[in-house]
Amino acid sequence: MSNDTNSIDMSSIERRQFDTLIIGAGGGGLRASLQLAEADLSVAVVSKVFPTRSHTVAAQGGMNAALANVSPDNWHWHMFDTVKGGDYLGDQDSIEYMCRAAPKAVYELEHFGVPFSRLDNGKIYQRAFGGQSQNFGGDQAARTCAAADRTGHAILHSLYQQNIRAKTHFFDEYFAVDLLKDDEGRVLGAVVFNIQDGQITVIEAKTTLLATGGAGQLFKTTTNALINTGDGMGMAMRAGIPLQDMEFFQFHPTGIAGRGMLITEGARGEGGYLVNGDGERLMERYAPKAKDLASRDVVSRAIAIEVREGRGCGPNKDHVMLKLDHLGEAVIQKRLPGIRQTCITFLGIDPAEAPIPVFPTAHYTMGGIPTNRYGQVVVPVKDTPEEPVAGLYAAGECACVSVHGGNRLGGNSLLDILVFGRAAANHIIGYLKENKYHRVIDDEVIKKVVEKVNRFDQQGSGDETVAGLRKELKQTMEEHCSVFRNKEILKQGVDKVEQLAQRMKNVKVDDQSFTFNTARVEAFELENLMACALATIHSAYAREESRGAHSRTDFIERDDKSWMRHSLYSFENGLDYKPVRTRPLSVESFPPKPRVY
Ligand code: FUM
Repeated sequence: MSNDTNSIDMSSIERRQFDTLIIGAGGGGLRASLQLAEADLSVAVVSKVFPTRSHTVAAQGGMNAALANVSPDNWHWHMFDTVKGGDYLGDQDSIEYMCRAAPKAVYELEHFGVPFSRLDNGKIYQRAFGGQSQNFGGDQAARTCAAADRTGHAILHSLYQQNIRAKTHFFDEYFAVDLLKDDEGRVLGAVVFNIQDGQITVIEAKTTLLATGGAGQLFKTTTNALINTGDGMGMAMRAGIPLQDMEFFQFHPTGIAGRGMLITEGARGEGGYLVNGDGERLMERYAPKAKDLASRDVVSRAIAIEVREGRGCGPNKDHVMLKLDHLGEAVIQKRLPGIRQTCITFLGIDPAEAPIPVFPTAHYTMGGIPTNRYGQVVVPVKDTPEEPVAGLYAAGECACVSVHGGNRLGGNSLLDILVFGRAAANHIIGYLKENKYHRVIDDEVIKKVVEKVNRFDQQGSGDETVAGLRKELKQTMEEHCSVFRNKEILKQGVDKVEQLAQRMKNVKVDDQSFTFNTARVEAFELENLMACALATIHSAYAREESRGAHSRTDFIERDDKSWMRHSLYSFENGLDYKPVRTRPLSVESFPPKPRVY
């Protein structure tokens, strides 16, 4: 196929029209699509995998809501914990909105058919998770609603079934390449292609919601599925939208050492604890009160320090142990059956009998596409910190609303996707009442994206492979942007990622391969990862403080005076900053305080 857009025959390209296009079929996308389909709107969900394989399916421990089924609780305590957990970088209006909405979001799921675990009194089971407290920093709370340790699986399948009932239109195994915009910056849909046969479709939509999940594949060792390649974030960046707070990447304390698979924080919530090579309960040293249920950034740093200082376990002293065997087989089988099976399958270890080797592993993208609490994508315009991009929304891990600030609390991500997936849909319903008609998309705009779909098999010298560059990128991010960072390591990382991004121009996809379209998908995914990597490493290099998951050994303190602000990184302008929204909706603001657990 030719590089020349003049040769593209527009009449051969399939076109479909919908009120709303949703890209991504995880919990955020499916909660939004359900709301829209039930409002009798035409909604298309495009997913590069079959919907129930979306990464929400892998969420284990549960979803936070102050139901007070196990310990006294209320939404305001949940809000305090979330603000503190995020090291005061979260926007407090969004956090209040989310924590207030949480109980209703759980009861909605219950009505959708999610089989939550139960207490003896029949109420929904709630377990303790990290960073949860009663009464603004008091005793441990138990706020995480769980379906054993397969909560995401239960939620995703229920949402999918509800969407089938509501007649949502699914484009399964289609890859979304780029957004379509008009001259005024309004988003009018996207170009997608069918992974099976390469057939291109233009989806014209009055509104588009990005719900593509995170970018955990940036790192070599990760809990994330292979599909988590930051696709929506890459699309947004190419559409001129900056990414916010990308330097804040969460490392989950308990990935299986050297492999990365998730061992839920729920394991510690059920009473498990970490021990070092000397057999000590290491968290007593770092978080005397909360111990193993301190927030994730604290526990991950503690493990990394123990290993660095020679108190690790195993022949290489390169991990610590998570002990669960004292809980007894019955508790493990009832509350943690999934991780028990994971350990037996991948390690040959039954956690009911022996401890699990663990080490921090890349888990969650706190940053993302900037949005307000209605899910509208917002960008700085002239002197304003943010104005909505007409027709464009984002929700879930690809978005930065920002409820997680510098460090997300476990159990708040399922909550985030459900609350803000629904909120975005509700805003879309209102927007569509004012914007009833499709707008004309310029053929040239479409042709540019179509040409790009054919690009990787034509451009450059072709002496780079997708697999080779991807491997180098993941290794670079692991070495230069991990739990601890400093100027020198980050600067080297910036240079390496910039070089890799340049080399991307010489990637060639093997068009003789019988898996041509999946090879092409991998090339697009790498392009998206590269965009996320640039945003992450540049933002991390620039932020000269330690806050949440961004821990600088050369700037060990949090610096609220200079750095209590959100970063924004774009291809066009590099780094910019905007203020944190510190004013909640109805309560007093929580001012920054030293963060101890
Ligand atoms: O540990 C976990 O089960 C993960 C939960 C989360 O990331 O929210």
